[in-house]
Amino acid sequence: MVIKGISGKATQIDSDALLVGTFQGEHSLCGVTADIDEVLGGAISQRIDRGEFEGKDGEVSIVHTLGKLPVRIVAIAGLGERAKFGVDKIRVAAGSASRDLRKLHCTRIAMALVGIGGIDSEASVEAMVQGAILGLYDFVRYKKPESPGVEEILVVDTEDKQSARLDQGISQGKIVAEATNLARDMVNEPSNFMTPTRMADVAKGIAESQSIAVDILGPGDMEKMGMGALLGVARGSTEDPRLIVLSYRGDPDSKGSIGFVGKGVTFDSGGISIKPSKDMHEMKGDMAGAAAVLAAIGAISQLELKVNVTVIVPAAENLPGGTALKPGDILRAMNGKTIEVLNTDAEGRLILADALSYAVTQGISPLIDLATLTGACYVALGNVYSGAFTNDQPFLDRVLKGAADAGERLWPMPMPEEYRTQIKSDIADIKNIGGRYGGAITAALFLKEFVGDVPWVHIDIAGKELSKENSGYLVKGATGVGVRTLVQLGMSLAK
Ligand code: BES
Ligand code: ZN
Ligand code: ZN
Repeated sequence: MVIKGISGKATQIDSDALLVGTFQGEHSLCGVTADIDEVLGGAISQRIDRGEFEGKDGEVSIVHTLGKLPVRIVAIAGLGERAKFGVDKIRVAAGSASRDLRKLHCTRIAMALVGIGGIDSEASVEAMVQGAILGLYDFVRYKKPESPGVEEILVVDTEDKQSARLDQGISQGKIVAEATNLARDMVNEPSNFMTPTRMADVAKGIAESQSIAVDILGPGDMEKMGMGALLGVARGSTEDPRLIVLSYRGDPDSKGSIGFVGKGVTFDSGGISIKPSKDMHEMKGDMAGAAAVLAAIGAISQLELKVNVTVIVPAAENLPGGTALKPGDILRAMNGKTIEVLNTDAEGRLILADALSYAVTQGISPLIDLATLTGACYVALGNVYSGAFTNDQPFLDRVLKGAADAGERLWPMPMPEEYRTQIKSDIADIKNIGGRYGGAITAALFLKEFVGDVPWVHIDIAGKELSKENSGYLVKGATGVGVRTLVQLGMSLAK
């Protein structure tokens, strides 16, 4: 798909369709939308006056131009109330409208939302491009697409003022959205394809195309380093585990590096503590944290950000094979701590224990991990907000700011020391499950045991990795959650 900036009058744009926006509850149109409405003899304003179109978030109305304009179709996207407008509304509008237009066999789409609602032109262009690329995402490796693909997106700058900044917005939006779609591809791939070994191959691919160093550790290396927890989880499967380490040095003058750690359970059956079969297939998405960190480092490198980033992905499959980990087993993690495994389905924290210990021994700081870690976090925050836990408030504040700027929803969660007793074990240093309540918190407290004094943020993305429906720029299936936040964090550290 080609994405180009173009300046000129919206009424003269040559494309299959033109996208314009309107705010909810506003009867008098302005700017590009008013110009188009005039040429169409009031077709847009009449719809609004008659109440056929309200302008709600994500609402899209189609007008056939019947020769009155060079474009065949004008799509009017609702932007919600002006008072509640923000850059994410542009993403939503571009995402849902481009999907509707593709269904109508438009292969060329022009979008006239630059600077809408007073948003900075570069930011609006970036959001528009992201919305279109994310909204048009389709996972077609195993079936034919239903409509012809969109070949061209034109970003229309009617003011014709800042083409260099617009090009910058287009290229940034493209890099971040394509990285998000790469993460989506990895998550959508079934586990019979996306094994730990294949994930390592994808990581090598990301590293080869960029200036990123790669190191892949197998079971032998893990044995030598004492990664008993990661090896323990992998034991129930014939697929070998991998520890994937990527390192991008965008700031060679600095010795330090931030660490992105991602949970890479390529399939979580629960192991011997097996999960119910209903919805078990969704556990192919239990490597969404890994997918996000891998895609993010690729984007950060493409953007040539002046920052050092190390990605660490523990990858394993959690199956109940004959040699599987059993409830009651005790494992020793790389930092020497012993763990009593009382539920083999709490495997994410086990593999992360070794990945975080490894990061600490490598001197990587600060650390941020992304993990589809607990059903409890899904219950607490639903399918939009991810939960954030930390041992370092200033670092969390920075991450929260990154998420807000990137348009991803993140909510701070408490980590009270009182709950620590829940993971005390009678016969080991710690056990891998707490009591019935506060499961997202006890999981975070478990991880905290493996980060030492390093500033760390843990993001529980469980339930956010898959979308049940097409909505805005989300498409049914993998969401690519976390990629935008991580890239934004990289940008803020590079400044
Ligand atoms: N991968 C799951 C968590 C999960 C649940 C991710 C729903 C996405 C959607 C994790 O490994 C798990 O099974 N956690 C258990 C922990 C429990 C046994 C303490 C859970 O949340 O039930
Ligand atoms: Zn599990
Ligand atoms: Zn899991």
